[in-house]
Amino acid sequence: MNKKISVIGAGNVGATTAQRLFEKNYSEVALIDIAEGIAEGKALDILQSGPVLGLDNYINGSTNYDITKNSDIIVITSGIARKPGMSRDDLLKINMNIVSEVTEKSLDASPDALVIVVTNPLDAMAMQSYKVSGKKPNEVFGMAGVLDSARFTTFISQSQNTSVKSISSNVLGGHGDTMVPLLNNSFIGGKSLSESIKEDELNDLVDRTKNGGAEIVNYLKTGSAFYAPSASIVQMVDAISSDSKEVLPTTAYLQGEYGINDLYFGVPAKLGKNGVEEIIQYDLSDAEKEDLNKSAKAVRDTVIAMENLS
Ligand code: NAI
Ligand code: 2OP
Repeated sequence: MNKKISVIGAGNVGATTAQRLFEKNYSEVALIDIAEGIAEGKALDILQSGPVLGLDNYINGSTNYDITKNSDIIVITSGIARKPGMSRDDLLKINMNIVSEVTEKSLDASPDALVIVVTNPLDAMAMQSYKVSGKKPNEVFGMAGVLDSARFTTFISQSQNTSVKSISSNVLGGHGDTMVPLLNNSFIGGKSLSESIKEDELNDLVDRTKNGGAEIVNYLKTGSAFYAPSASIVQMVDAISSDSKEVLPTTAYLQGEYGINDLYFGVPAKLGKNGVEEIIQYDLSDAEKEDLNKSAKAVRDTVIAMENLS
């Protein structure tokens, strides 16, 4: 695809995202990291896979943002990953400063780019990036819901012995323990989950989804998930680059939708060349509305904590 994508942060999520983009034929990928040599080395390694895969695409790595000039999309993955026992909010101050710095540097080089934020705590970091970006709210958004929904779908598929292709699940809300997997607006073989799966079993699947990130951290010990996160980022990049108008769970800026104001929060959004082109509002049950409000409160508390730190 004739688009230039820059990935900031060449750690597990960033480098895997860059590799996936390179292999999906994006014409140019730029990879940036603050640590000398990391982005250069990983990008060169990915580039050298080109002859084996028959790809003439280009990827470059650096500490210098010059290589990101005129990007169409900036993906921000730079930050510190959550370690066992560390909550997402512990990361707040360090990652807030990192996200501010890399947003400014990236947009200096590519003023017209759309920004996808990935760094945790995600909803607050999306807000921070938006604040320093000087861009319109639809042009800065976050990735979390695609990943959380992919985890929910995986667990449903395993428990019901049904192809992931026949399941469409939706997880809304903040990217954390308060996320809201929807039961009436998620479907298996066209039937809602609440109609298809017994309540106890469904509650277990919901709990496992809410703890999906922590489950991986507990296995890995020294880092957090990156294969499913990078696949989720690329799904959003693809939707924007191809102007597909696909509706994906997106951390978008809400201005009254779902009764929530001035907050980045996970909602279904139509993605296209302008970024978030429409926020889709589902009819929710009273219990889902209550859960969503609890999640919004948790996100707002983090944003307020972040504002108090700055
Ligand atoms: P990682 O530790 O492997 O990579 C982070 C990279 O950022 C490091 O290479 C580091 O040198 C770089 N970095 C730090 N400060 C920088 C700066 N100022 N400029 C440029 N680069 C800088 O971490 P990983 O696993 O790649 O995760 C990255 C972030 O993504 C974490 O905050 C993690 O919690 C978050 N994450 C979010 C997900 C989501 O669904 N939103 C899913 C998975 C991870
Ligand atoms: C995850 O959900 C760490 O947010 C990251 O895996």
